[in-house]
Amino acid sequence: MSDELRSLLWTGSCLSVLDQLKLPFELDWIQCTSYCQVYSVIKNMNIRGAPAIGVAAAYGMALAAREAISMPDPEQFVRAAADYLKSARPTAINLAWAVDRCLAEGAPSLGTDAVATADELTAFADQLARDDEERNLALSKYGADLFDDGDTILTICNTGALATYRYGTAFGAINEAFKQGKNIQVIALETRPYLQGARLTALELVTAGIPFHLITDGMAGFTMSHGMATKVIVGADRIAANGDFANKIGTYQLAVLARYHGLPFYTAAPMSSFDFTIASGAEIPIEQRDEDEVLTFAGQRVAANGSHAYNPSFDVTPNELLTGIVTDRGVFRPPFGKWEQP
Ligand code: MRU
Repeated sequence: MSDELRSLLWTGSCLSVLDQLKLPFELDWIQCTSYCQVYSVIKNMNIRGAPAIGVAAAYGMALAAREAISMPDPEQFVRAAADYLKSARPTAINLAWAVDRCLAEGAPSLGTDAVATADELTAFADQLARDDEERNLALSKYGADLFDDGDTILTICNTGALATYRYGTAFGAINEAFKQGKNIQVIALETRPYLQGARLTALELVTAGIPFHLITDGMAGFTMSHGMATKVIVGADRIAANGDFANKIGTYQLAVLARYHGLPFYTAAPMSSFDFTIASGAEIPIEQRDEDEVLTFAGQRVAANGSHAYNPSFDVTPNELLTGIVTDRGVFRPPFGKWEQP
């Protein structure tokens, strides 16, 4: 069995996206040949994870530029596609970061030569994909140093290769420590309601051969109070200038629990997940998803007809609960605010 799953592949004319809605039991690839299809696979969460949707959107821009060649106003077409792609999901900054960089740096011929723009944006998407790969590899190595023989590392959601272009973030650090021969184990939260932990992280842990146990989200306090977890590491969808960060719903309660039980609590993310335009986490837009995701389980209705549900997809953890932020530049520690060099 290969030791790495891939979230997306660019074939030269089409973006192939692994349909994460069908995992872990079916490996099915969706072929996107238009930017609208890329929007749909991001919006419907066939592909998800902050860095992965950033790279997918960059290839969406490449596809938009190809489609623009036959349009009356190619520049206007590409700019409208950028706005549309950015609107697919609001919380992870990597999506807007990638699309904005495509326009600002990746398309010098935009407005003058539509054919050249298409080539430039394709090359730039490749560059952003490689950039994500390099950042994740670097941060995984810094993160691996945080783990010791005997650690049991608790994590939430999915932060592995499926959530990125390659390697993963928090999962990348765990995997790197394991590959270095460290005697570690993992506790993975199932991550209701989308079940990224049960469906995706468990698959990545099995694939990598890392020993682990899956728990329901409500069992986190039990495992910490019984000494079953020694450290916590999670991903991040957007990190504000003061170090507050948004991540999958349930992350904040893990940070509070970790503080109460005296456990180190880290987030891991590439520098592309920072949003220096916002001072604190209070400014991070939180995606609200359909209540049916909560009222059902694995497609089966579980709550009485007439029930209503809240479904915020992310929460914000205040920086004071963080032991450190693992990035491709190294591990930043409190007080947070200077981000050039840890
Ligand atoms: O809703 P999702 O599955 O896109 O949420 C993903 C997360 O919250 C991850 O923890 C985050 O994107 C970091 S992934 C490297």
